[in-house]
Amino acid sequence: MTTALEGRELTQVGPGTVMGGLMRQYWIPAALSSELVRDGAPLRLMLLGEKLIAFRDSAGRVGVMDHRCPHRCASLFLGRNEEGGIRCIYHGWKFDVAGNCIDMASVPPHQDFKHKVKAKAYRAVERAGVIWVHMGAGAEAPPLPALEILDVPDDEINVSFIQRDCNYLQALEGEIDTAHFGFLHAGHVDPDDVAEDDPVYNTVTSRAPEYHVIDTAWGTQYGAYRPAGPGRNYWRCASFLFPFWTLAPNGEFGSHVHARAWVPLDDGHTMFCFLWWKRGTSAMTLPQPAFKDGRPIGGTGRGNKFLPNTTDWLGRWRLAANPDNDWGIDRAAQRDNTIYSGIEGIHLQDQAITESMGPIVDHELEHLAPSDQMITRTRRRLLMAARALRDGGVRPPGVEDPEVFRGARSGYFVSDDQRGWPEIYAGQLAAAVRPPPTPLRAAE
Ligand code: FES
Ligand SMILES: [Fe+2]
Repeated sequence: MTTALEGRELTQVGPGTVMGGLMRQYWIPAALSSELVRDGAPLRLMLLGEKLIAFRDSAGRVGVMDHRCPHRCASLFLGRNEEGGIRCIYHGWKFDVAGNCIDMASVPPHQDFKHKVKAKAYRAVERAGVIWVHMGAGAEAPPLPALEILDVPDDEINVSFIQRDCNYLQALEGEIDTAHFGFLHAGHVDPDDVAEDDPVYNTVTSRAPEYHVIDTAWGTQYGAYRPAGPGRNYWRCASFLFPFWTLAPNGEFGSHVHARAWVPLDDGHTMFCFLWWKRGTSAMTLPQPAFKDGRPIGGTGRGNKFLPNTTDWLGRWRLAANPDNDWGIDRAAQRDNTIYSGIEGIHLQDQAITESMGPIVDHELEHLAPSDQMITRTRRRLLMAARALRDGGVRPPGVEDPEVFRGARSGYFVSDDQRGWPEIYAGQLAAAVRPPPTPLRAAE
């Protein structure tokens, strides 16, 4: 079980917390590149419990900094983004993207001390249409993580952001919990109604899979298996990657190049950042699942409806179906079993279930089962790494050795391979499609 202390250490991410310290070692996907335009309005950006602003200067460079002006703490959100920097509208002090004060307009020239003033700015780079932020304190930032999706040219990557009203950990744990698929998403699907070569068929034929769960160089991994005919198993494999990434099993292992981040905005809000290869075979690129008579499977509709973005700290990429309207639950569909959950859309089902736990789940109320071993192992791995960093300065996995992420792939497959899980995984990986590597842009 997870104690109350462990629960706090796992879920609190603000400055000075043990998990916040771990998160600040890594690059964080923070916003779409398209959210910032040259000399356009600054963006309010909440990350790891810190209120920041982001802006794009006249040269196209991105600045990310504490929203409080170093003079007397007026919000730079109100600032004028003009001619190579952001100018505070209170007394006209101006800052470049690195936080340097480049104009102290309210002070006579002989009293000017702008070279001594610096806004608290974080490093930012752009890759795959995403602005990545490093909130660590050291002089040097590590390279970007060598995620397989970042080997793909930018124009072959799709990106989506969706905010979730709960702690990052419970959102992430929903991803590494394959046992829920046969209930939450497919509890209403009778195997007789589905074609035998459809991946859904194997999931609903046996709703209680067995698992292999292992520690890996990048975090943790499970291989969940169910029988799929004589001598064959249907495998669903997924990973947790430090510090908040998941690779989901919702695509064909051979081409399922993607990555999913559960970025803590603050302790009670998470931004889901999803990058996927347009040419991969997955739930994002395949048609909606259907019964063998052609009818779409209820509750698997695609597309999320968003509220308009606002300028609020937590106003970006919010779904129209949310706790205020019970995620649009349709009790009639639930009752007549056309949709087991009564909620339309697989992403929304996951979103509803993790938000329904409240902002931060009370871990002392849980009764974890053998089917939760991926979750307990991942919690332990996160906690041990965060404490080792706090207590001994041990850099967590993938910071100094970003190549560890490149070995992580997920997806489903059917196999007659009867060897152990690591060998089966290695065999699948060796046969998988790999996109051509493109050089990662050096951190600036
Ligand atoms: S508070 Fe920003 S210039 Fe004075
Ligand atoms: Fe799910």
